[in-house]
Amino acid sequence: ASAHVAVAQNDFRNTVTGEVLDIYGQAPEAGRDTPAVKKFMQTGVNPYTEVKGCLPKGEEVYLESCSGCHGHVGEGKVGPGLADSYWTYPKNTTDKGLFETIFGGANGMMGPHGGHLELDNHLKLIAWIRHLQVDDVKDAEWLTDEQKKSFKPFNSDEWEKTGRAAALKEKCA
Ligand code: HEM
Ligand code: CA
Repeated sequence: ASAHVAVAQNDFRNTVTGEVLDIYGQAPEAGRDTPAVKKFMQTGVNPYTEVKGCLPKGEEVYLESCSGCHGHVGEGKVGPGLADSYWTYPKNTTDKGLFETIFGGANGMMGPHGGHLELDNHLKLIAWIRHLQVDDVKDAEWLTDEQKKSFKPFNSDEWEKTGRAAALKEKCA
């Protein structure tokens, strides 16, 4: 229900301190003006969720910046698991909340990533993290009811064997 609330641009906040995040002051110039970024900034909803063609790039960004601490498939390592339904910060069940946590960081080793992730790639990264989900998605705020019906828990073998290759043939839009 919370997924479709319009968000003012200055309403993105640091997950720990509550301070307003300066999105356009910090994000790289590239990748700011895509239709998906504009839509996300207006609605707080990630248009790339479950768009298969967006997943390979999201995976690439995740493996480059996140998997060292959160595990290859979000299973958890020095950082908490991201593929299960438990969240330290409950707002991470929304696209806006997850974006804020990644952009501005959280405690300890979870530093801010907003300064190096292009916004469009950031949305692909979030779509990939959502796709890694292995738990029941009945409480997943990031999926619409329709998406919940077709969602299948992540299967690493299937992704390696056929999923990635099929996704690479599709468009991300
Ligand atoms: C926490 C995502 C990179 C270490 C978190 C949380 C998210 C997240 C969503 C909160 C989880 C929850 O609410 O349960 C990411 C993403 C990354 C990234 C998408 C890449 C862009 C890293 C790196 C490290 C790290 C590189 C280690 C140097 C941690 C730790 C926490 C955490 C220790 C717990 C912090 C706390 O509870 O306040 N991360 N992370 N993360 N992450 Fe990351
Ligand atoms: Ca978790």
